[in-house]
Amino acid sequence: MDQSSTDATISSHSHAIASHVESNGHPTAMDKLTDRLSKDSLIRMGLYFYKERCPDTHMKDLIVDSIGEGREIVLEGQPVINFGSDSFLGLDRHPAVQQAIIDATRTWGTHNGSSRSFSSVQLAEEAEHRLARWLGVPDTLIFPSVSLANVGMLPSLAGKGDLLAMDRTSHDSLWQGAKIASANGADLQEFGAASIETLERLMERKPYKERVVVVDGVYSMAGSIPPLKQLDELTRRYGGYMYVDDAHGTGIIGDRGRGAAHRALGTLNNVMMVGSLSKAFSCLGGFVTTTLDMKLMLKMKAGSYMFGGPVPPNYLAGIIAVCEIIDSPEYDGILGRLRQLIAGVTGGLRSLGLEVLGGESAIVSVVVGEIEKTLQAGRWLYDHGYYVQSAVYPSVALTGGLLRIQVNANHTDEQITGLLNAFADLARDLNIGKQKRMPR
Ligand SMILES: Cc1ncc(COP(=O)(O)O)c(C=O)c1O
Repeated sequence: MDQSSTDATISSHSHAIASHVESNGHPTAMDKLTDRLSKDSLIRMGLYFYKERCPDTHMKDLIVDSIGEGREIVLEGQPVINFGSDSFLGLDRHPAVQQAIIDATRTWGTHNGSSRSFSSVQLAEEAEHRLARWLGVPDTLIFPSVSLANVGMLPSLAGKGDLLAMDRTSHDSLWQGAKIASANGADLQEFGAASIETLERLMERKPYKERVVVVDGVYSMAGSIPPLKQLDELTRRYGGYMYVDDAHGTGIIGDRGRGAAHRALGTLNNVMMVGSLSKAFSCLGGFVTTTLDMKLMLKMKAGSYMFGGPVPPNYLAGIIAVCEIIDSPEYDGILGRLRQLIAGVTGGLRSLGLEVLGGESAIVSVVVGEIEKTLQAGRWLYDHGYYVQSAVYPSVALTGGLLRIQVNANHTDEQITGLLNAFADLARDLNIGKQKRMPR
C-alpha cells in the first residue's frame, strides 16, 4: 500500500471508536470513559444520526482539503463553492491582512509568552484602542474568543441578588457563562426568543440589585436580528442593561459595521457589546466594550482572561489591519458588495417560494424542517457543487432544520446565480417550497 492510500485509509477510519484492553484483559480507563460518554442522551442521538440513520448525508466533522483564492474549496475530495464561511467580508484573502500577519510573525514570533495578567504585547493595547475608536466607546478588552469572553464576562457581571435574563436562543457560550453566574447566586431566568412580555414579567419578579439582559445581536442560526431597541427600553426602564453578543453583526450590521446594538441604539454607552474578531474580521478572538476603569476590573475578575493565553501578536496585527480597512473608503465597497449579495440571495430564494429567515446579516437560512430531510438537502447541494451548512438539533429546534447559507463579499455573481439555480432544482427534487427556476 503506498503512502497516499495509507493516509486515505487512516482518514476514513479516523472516526471509528478505538477499543483497547490492558494486558490483564480489563478495559482501560479511557475505554470506560468512552463507554460512559456513549450513554449520554445528546451523544447517543448524534451518533445515531451520524452512524446509523444518515451516515451518507450527515456532513459534519468534514475535512477541507484545500482553499482556493475565491470561495472555492475542496471538501472531502470534492470541489465545491463554500457558502459556509464566517469570513463574511472575504478578508481572509485580503493582501493587507495577510501581510500584517506575516510581518508581525517575523517581528513578534508566534506567541505572546504568557497570560496577559502578567504582560501584553503592545499590539494588544493598540488593537483594543483601534476597536474602541471604531465603535465610539472608551475602551475594549480582547479575549481569545467570543466564547471565552462570554464564559468570563457573565459571572463577572451577575452574582447573588442579580437577575440574569437570557433570551432562550442565546448562543451556547452565553448559557455556559450564565450557568457559572447562576452557581454563584445569580437568578438565571429565560425569556422566549425576544419576547418583550416575558422579559417584563422577569423584570418585575423581585427587587434585584442588578438586571442583566442577555441576547444575541444576530441569531447565529436564523441570521435574524432581535428587537434590540424595545428590549433596551424595557431593560433600562427597570434600571438594568443589555449584554449583546454581536458575534455575527460585528463589521456587518449598521453604520460602518458597528453592529446590531449600535444600529438599534445609536451608541454603545448604555449596553455591553461583545464583538467577534474571528468572523467578519477573519482573524481570531472576541472583545467586549468597556470604560477605562471597568477594563482594569474585568482583567481582575474574568477567569477566562486571567487564567488563559491571549490572541497571539500576529493576529493582533491582523485585527489592526482590518480596523484600517474599516476606516478606509475600500470598506464601503466591500460592505456594499456584501449587502448587495445578501439581498440577491434572500430575494432569489424567496422568489423560489422557499421560507427564508434572516436577510439583513450575512446568514440567510432556508427552513427545511425534519432532521433527515435537512441533512439530505445539504448533501444534495454538496453533490451539486455547493457547500451550505445543514443546521439541525441541537443547534435549532428538533423539527426546525435549516440550510444555513453564509454570504461572503468575495462570492462572485456566477457563484450566487449557481447557488440559486441549485436551490431551484433542490426545491423540485426534494419538494421543499414551491418550484421555479432562476434565469441563468
Ligand atoms: C452569537 C455567538 N457567540 C459566540 C460564538 C462563538 O465565537 P468564538 O468562535 O469566537 O468562540 C458564535 C459563533 O458562531 C456566535 O454565533
